Amino acid sequence: MIGRPRPITVRAPDQRSADCGPEARAPPGSVLATIPAVTIEQQPLGSPGSAVADRDVDPGEALLQVKNLRTSFFSSEGAVHAVDNVSFNVRRGEALALVGESGCGKSVTAMSIMRLVAPPGRITGGHVLFKGKDLADLSEREMRKVRGDDIAMVFQEPMTSLNPVFRIGSQVAEAIRIHRNVSKKEAWERAGAMLDLVSIPDPIKRLDDYPHQLSGGMRQRVMIAMALSCDPELLIADEPTTALDVTIQAQIMELLASLQKRLGLAILLITHDLGIVAEFCERVVVMYTGRVVEEAPVRQLFAAPAHPYTRGLLKSLPSVTREKEARLPTIKGMVPPITNLPQDANSIRGVRTSWTSASGGSRH
Ligand SMILES: Nc1ncnc2c1ncn2[C@@H]1O[C@H](COP(=O)(O)OP(=O)(O)OP(=O)(O)O)[C@@H](O)[C@H]1O
Ligand SMILES: [Mg+2]
Repeated sequence: MIGRPRPITVRAPDQRSADCGPEARAPPGSVLATIPAVTIEQQPLGSPGSAVADRDVDPGEALLQVKNLRTSFFSSEGAVHAVDNVSFNVRRGEALALVGESGCGKSVTAMSIMRLVAPPGRITGGHVLFKGKDLADLSEREMRKVRGDDIAMVFQEPMTSLNPVFRIGSQVAEAIRIHRNVSKKEAWERAGAMLDLVSIPDPIKRLDDYPHQLSGGMRQRVMIAMALSCDPELLIADEPTTALDVTIQAQIMELLASLQKRLGLAILLITHDLGIVAEFCERVVVMYTGRVVEEAPVRQLFAAPAHPYTRGLLKSLPSVTREKEARLPTIKGMVPPITNLPQDANSIRGVRTSWTSASGGSRH
């Protein structure tokens, strides 16, 4: 059972293999890395996670500082730290990628930044600072102003975020009126201008449409328009293109990239897609079971990934030069429930280093 954080030892696999990478060459059972445990009491400031983030980005330059953030979910089995001592900074105007496999805590990190984690979850440690201001100190009313005005969020599935029974125009205009003291008419006009900004053809006419009358790509553009309607400085995009087909994905990413440049927007991009990361982002934070395991500029991460999990992630990318018959390697097994992580996790929380090979056999 979880509750007290424990150090995690990452060990080399029991059998050697021909696979490249230091973890495959290390003597079987030898310790590859230790991820230190940090208790909640030790968390605020000064612990290694935030020191790394601060070295990388001058805190004076940082728009958003996440310092030793811990978000826990409470159940009868105890506390589970879905986000565990996470630290990183986002500079003004930069695109930072947050990557990691399903369930590693990316969305909970985003929801924690927005202070939107609902019971049984809550933030149990650390700080989130926007322009140096700790968001935990704000009242709910002040926080509502931050959401939209300063930090906005776009979610993966636009249909669940748009209300099917209201016209697009009223939904965008309402988002504007919540944050700006403008008349209904002005808000409607601004909504039209926002649809134009996100390259929706015939924007004024589209204001009268209902969500089901738009394609998935157009709906995602509406969500982006809504998020940007109050000029936020930071946009958190949580898997903004996962539900879309590949060509539409590319269009949405191009739109985000051009808006980032035109508006000087900082973007925290949560994604599984390393291709998008390579093309679109400047730095990457890699998460694994609630923790940050690596943080580096994109080129550096792709050229020399330091953490075994990141190497695994990159190895699983398709390549046109790969042997025709070869299947992509996958990480063997499943991540266990975070309520039941083993202490000496050579194959789980530290990193699952066993890879399934082309023939379906196991190569470590
Ligand atoms: N309301 C909740 N109650 C209990 N546990 C939760 C709750 N919400 C999230 N979790 C747990 O927190 C962990 C992190 O979830 P999160 O949604 O952040 O993953 P993710 O990295 O965004 O995954 P994906 O890539 O699939 O979106 C998961 O183990 C999840 O089960
Ligand atoms: Mg998610």
